[in-house]
Amino acid sequence: MNDWTFICRVDDIPVLGARRVRRPAGTDVAIFRTEDDRVFALLDRCPHKGGPLSQGIVFGEHVACPLHNWAISLVDGEARAPDIGCATRFAVRVEAGVVSLLGSELATLGIDKAALAGVDPATARGMTATLSSNPRASSPSDANPCPSSCAQSQDPRVATPIFSV
Ligand code: FES
Repeated sequence: MNDWTFICRVDDIPVLGARRVRRPAGTDVAIFRTEDDRVFALLDRCPHKGGPLSQGIVFGEHVACPLHNWAISLVDGEARAPDIGCATRFAVRVEAGVVSLLGSELATLGIDKAALAGVDPATARGMTATLSSNPRASSPSDANPCPSSCAQSQDPRVATPIFSV
């Protein structure tokens, strides 16, 4: 199912920079723009100790975590060797300068049941993603799922959707 959700325009993201997409529950999503205007999205939580990747330094196809300088691939979320770990990756669509993410992924990836426990389902269905550039520390209670290709893979999905698309 293609439930692409408008997030922002490419120009809303600084070149070699990032913005955060706030969600009603769970860790924000960091969206990055490379020097050649490609856009990637990762859970805004470093696989090392949870640093906010949206505040890291983008270089090439990587972001350097602001806490301990791990290099995380924007393409697949994997930490560059010798470090081991991965950040959850979100699919991105860019068409005519418009950035979209999948609503189904925004509603499920990187959200654990504890985070959803405080969200009223009726209220959550009316919420949408909002773009923010203000820093926020990630919550240690959030899940840190990895893509299935990652050695640290966990089940990233929960049953309850929090977005209506
Ligand atoms: S928290 Fe990101 S490198 Fe340590």
